[in-house]
This record gives sequence, structure tokens and C-alpha cells, in this order.
Amino acid sequence: MRRHRIAVIPGDGIGREVTPAALEVLEAAGRAHGFALETTEHPWGCDHFVETGRMMPVDALDTLRDTDAIFLGAVGRPDVPDHISLWGLLIPIRRTFRQYVNLRPIRLWPGIPSPLRDVTPEQIDMVIVRENNEGEYSEIGGRLYHGTEEELAVQQATFTRRGTDRVMEYAFKLAEGRSGRVCSATKSNGIIHTMPFWDERFAHATARHPQLEAEQVLIDALAAMVVLDPGRFDVIVASNLFGDILSDLAAAIAGSIGIAPSGNLNPERECPSMFEPVHGSAPDIAGQGIANPIGAIWSGA
Ligand code: IPM
Ligand code: MN
Repeated sequence: MRRHRIAVIPGDGIGREVTPAALEVLEAAGRAHGFALETTEHPWGCDHFVETGRMMPVDALDTLRDTDAIFLGAVGRPDVPDHISLWGLLIPIRRTFRQYVNLRPIRLWPGIPSPLRDVTPEQIDMVIVRENNEGEYSEIGGRLYHGTEEELAVQQATFTRRGTDRVMEYAFKLAEGRSGRVCSATKSNGIIHTMPFWDERFAHATARHPQLEAEQVLIDALAAMVVLDPGRFDVIVASNLFGDILSDLAAAIAGSIGIAPSGNLNPERECPSMFEPVHGSAPDIAGQGIANPIGAIWSGA
């Protein structure tokens, strides 16, 4: 029997409802298919922050390092600023464990109505490969002259060759086992330094995989095309922010962001990966027992 040591962080809001529901399903799957989960639950999140001033204990990352995978519910509570809750838990885990791929499969399941007219389940089956460690989500920057007329904020997007190449390589390899089509989300017409660089690295990856069909599309047009012609897309590789936005849009056309899964992956398995539904803590419906656990179940799968 294969045993997997899983660190469970239900987190906040509906994370605490969908996580136990999903674990029941995963445990049943284990009984049927010959694997067992050894789970350790960590009560980290916004309550922990309000009690202790930290989203998770000082040694939390060391605790997590020693597991096979992390299963996360959701993070966020209206009375705790998002940049505190997310930069105190989710983002440090993604970065410390070099989970540089955020894998977001999108499928229209039979029986789930799409908001698009006339689409069939076969037409919506794509995977967004979102860069998860760098790009627009950068700590480099700062603010000056707080509260004055001259106030200013600067945020430095950061794209490294290593960080860009590895996520693109992942996307091409993934496409090899699927339809063989990769699309790169870009914005090199408006973003003058980082996006032409992104395109260069995409051209480099394309040249390394001549058997695959590669195209690049500007992110604004891509957003429209994913709505108008979703069947055209299979693997889409995108920077951190573009992938974030596009994955909510794609989940919406597949009927609900509530069922979309994600894997924050360290493909080399040097560190544990983390699996979480794409939806957030949903404070508007938390505590009512009506949250749909499919996103959490599929992430667990
Ligand atoms: C996601 C979320 C996070 C992100 C937020 C909560 C920081 O939207 O996982 O998609 O932008 O990465
Ligand atoms: Mn998001």
C-alpha cells in the first residue's frame, strides 16, 4: 500500500468546509485503489493571524518541507488585508518550495451548464500553465511620499531566463502528451521589456520542440478568443498575472470557478507541491454548508 504524507491546511472561510469533504472522498478513493493518506492538519490562516500576529508559525515551512504534498483550502478573511494573509501563507509556500508551475486544468463536465451558448464538453478541455514564482508578482518596488500629492508606487515585474524557460518547457512537455498545441499569452505590443523577452524565450522553446504546434496571442485578444472559440485551445502558457486572470475566465466558461482545481507544482520534486481549488475563501457563503467541494476534490485527485 502506498502511503502519502499530506499536510492539510484548510485555511479560512469555505476552505474549512470543502477540505474535510474532499478528504473523505480522497480517503475513499485510497481504500478503493490501494493508497493511504497520512494527514496532518495545520490550523493556520487568518484566525491564527488574529490570535498570534502570524498567518503560520515561524517554523511552518520546515514542518511542511517534510511532507509529500500540501492540501490547501483557501486563504482570506474580510477583516485581514489580503496582502497580509496571502503574503503570509500562500505566496511564501509557492516560492519557498519552488512551485513554479501553477497547473490549472479547465473542463466542461457533462451536465454542468456553461454560460456560453452551444458549447459541448468536448470543446472546453484546456490546461493553463501559469508561471507561479515570478513575473508581475514581485516584491521588488516600493512607495515614496506616502499621503502626499507626490505619492508614488513602483512595482518591478521580474522575468528571469531560468524562470521563463522552465515553465515553458513544462508546457511543451505537457502538450506533447495532449493535442500537441501550445499557446503563449503575451502582451509584447504594450509591455516593452518583459514581454518581448517572454516571446524570445517562447520562440526558443518552440525551436526545441519542432513537432509541436506553437502560437502566441496577445492576452487581451486571447481573453476574447477563449470565450468565442474555446475549442481552439489546449495548453496555454502564461505569466503569473496573465495566467491568474485567464484561469478565472476559463473556469467561468466551464460553468463555475467553484469547480476549478489547481496544482502548485515543483516538477523536479525537490520540495512538496501544493494542491488547492482555484476559488477563494468565499466569505459571502462561508458557514452555510453550501460550498461545492468539487474544486477541492479535483485538486486532490
Ligand atoms: C490564485 C489567487 C491568488 C493569486 C491570490 C489570492 C494571491 O487569486 O491562486 O489564483 O493571485 O495567485
Ligand atoms: Mn486567482
